Amino acid sequence: MEIAPLSSALGGEVKGVDLSQEMSAELWQDIHDVWLEYKVLVFRNQDLSEESHLRFAKSFGELQPVRSATHIVGDDQPFMYIANRPVNGVPGILPNGEMHFHNDQSYYEFPCKASFLYALEIPKQGGNTMFLNTVKAYEMLDNELKEKLSGLSVFNVYDYDRNPTAPSDVYDAEAPQFTHPLVIEHPETGEAALFTSRLMSHHIVGMERAESDALLNQLFDHAEGLALRYEHVWQIGDLVMWDNFASQHARTDFDPEETRVMRRITVAGSRPVGLGVAA
Ligand SMILES: [Fe+2]
Repeated sequence: MEIAPLSSALGGEVKGVDLSQEMSAELWQDIHDVWLEYKVLVFRNQDLSEESHLRFAKSFGELQPVRSATHIVGDDQPFMYIANRPVNGVPGILPNGEMHFHNDQSYYEFPCKASFLYALEIPKQGGNTMFLNTVKAYEMLDNELKEKLSGLSVFNVYDYDRNPTAPSDVYDAEAPQFTHPLVIEHPETGEAALFTSRLMSHHIVGMERAESDALLNQLFDHAEGLALRYEHVWQIGDLVMWDNFASQHARTDFDPEETRVMRRITVAGSRPVGLGVAA
């Protein structure tokens, strides 16, 4: 196995690994270690059936069930097809267009720790996935701001129907929602990471709304700064996995006339713990 860095911010391409094959414990450990180090791993030219995709994801932990029944393929298979056409008779989810930066499932009590996204069909242009390193984003804040963020919690919500690009004041009361610490301690590396995003964070708990909006926007603008990004231009057969507690991702726009089909599996994580707070 070889790893080639993809940017100065995060991301590494893993070469010499065929994920459709069973792997040794040593190889798995190497992949696990570079995943934590690089936050985002890219495996090109993979030929992954649902079974082999599942086997690789499962080796990282318990799978996160897909919560919306309309997006399950089969009875107990945790695949989500992020697609703008039906797959196996199931309507696609998150069909078209741009999508702001987010950590997956930050609106759940137990967000996933890892996501595994596999490209089946891609548009000729666009639909790229941008990644940013939320550990570096936190590290690069000045001490005064770090102090200010200490102990703060943020309310996250995601209403697929009403706020596909960012939380609005009006959201379905039934939409998944949860409050998490704004700065978390990574469950495996112990690194401090920002855990608030433009797509899903609605407000900082206990703070006047205008002040909360200003502070959140300041953090989003900072984190989304170019130097912290890796932009993945997809090829069919790419498997990209990311550390959901140390990175965020966003999607660039693409032509809705073109087809984009991704198969995603997520692995369950622990409840995020605030920086400096005993678990
Ligand atoms: Fe996502």
